[in-house]
Formats: sequence, structure tokens, C-alpha cells
Amino acid sequence: MTIHILALSGSLRAASTNTAVLRTAIELAPDDVEMSIHDLRDLPFYDGDLEEAGAPESVEALRTALERADALLIATPEYNWSVPAVLKNAIDWASRGPDSPLEQLPTAVISAAGGSGGRRVQAHLREVFAHNDVDLLDEQVMIPRARVHIEDGRLVGEPHRTEVRSLVAALAEHAESMASRSAA
Ligand SMILES: Cc1cc2nc3c(=O)[nH]c(=O)nc-3n(C[C@H](O)[C@H](O)[C@H](O)COP(=O)(O)O)c2cc1C
Repeated sequence: MTIHILALSGSLRAASTNTAVLRTAIELAPDDVEMSIHDLRDLPFYDGDLEEAGAPESVEALRTALERADALLIATPEYNWSVPAVLKNAIDWASRGPDSPLEQLPTAVISAAGGSGGRRVQAHLREVFAHNDVDLLDEQVMIPRARVHIEDGRLVGEPHRTEVRSLVAALAEHAESMASRSAA
């Protein structure tokens, strides 16, 4: 069974360490995993009026991509001890309605951050995701001083590459077990 993982980066920077980590995760993923990065750049700020008028195309594209995915992998910086607005905004759009594609979605979080490694953004996301019963893995990867570990747009050096490889494998394995359980 092929497992489809949707990847979201909490940073829009072209040279983002988090997007680089996601590119590396794609390369380290098991053979039966297909992973793609969904760009959050075009999402407008959440606005109830926009939603009532019919969600914008970029919002529909995000929700559809999440619906089609077996699992979600996030790589995010920590901003001021919390979740970057770009990522929180995407979660807010995706969280809406009884048919939210976040419900029960197997999810894992990597934080490539400053000195903290993103301990607080990990904790805050755990609280945020409790709202939609997101199926968040206990395993998480934290990469302190992220810039030191990126070369040519890729994560370099062990043990972080091993950690990322293990996390993606654990996420895929969990997603597969959840998919077969719901199919049974
Ligand atoms: C506005 C802002 C606030 C930040 N706050 C924190 C923080 O609270 N904790 C931390 O570890 N790093 C913090 N950082 C550093 C970023 O997490 C770090 O540079 C990260 O690698 C940036 O991710 P990116 O390379 O994917 O853009 C902050 C950076 C910015 C721009």
C-alpha cells in the first residue's frame, strides 16, 4: 500500500531550514511513501466573511490535499515561543466544520528552530491539535540551531537525519495501520 504524506512548512523563506528538512524527509522516506510539500504562501488570513462567501481556491486546495493524504508531516520554526502565524493560519482554515480534514489525521511534527529546538512550538501544536482530535504521534524531532545543519538545501549530519528517517517511517507505519483498521 502506498502511503501519501502531505508536508507543510511553517516558514515561507526560500532558504527555509524547515523546508530543507522536508525535502530531506522526502529523500529519506521508505519506498512505499509518496510525499509532497504543499505551499502555504497563497493562503489569505482566516476571515469568516471569506469563508461564508465560499472558501478561496487556495483554501480548498489545502483542504483537498489534506483529505487525500493518509498522514501529515509538519516542519516548523518556533516564533516567539509559539506557532508561526503562517502555520497557525493554515490550521485555522483546515480546522473548520464538521468535515475538517484534520480530524483523526495521523500527524508528526519536526521543529527546526533556534537554540530551543522548538520545544515550545511542539507543546503548543500539541494543544492546538487536540481541538480537532488530530492523531499526533508521541515521537517528535527537534533540531536546535537549525541553520548549522543545512547544506545545499538539505539536512546534513547524524543524528538528525536518522531521527527524521525514523519519524517518517513511524508516521507511515501508523498511517497504514489506521487505514487498514478503518477499511476492516
Ligand atoms: C520572529 C521570529 C521569532 C523567533 N523566535 C524563536 C523562538 O522563540 N525560539 C527559537 O528557538 N527560535 C526562534 N526564532 C528562530 C527561528 O526559529 C529559526 O531561525 C528557524 O530556523 C527559522 O526557520 P526557517 O529557517 O525554516 O525559516 C525566531 C525567528 C523569528 C524570525
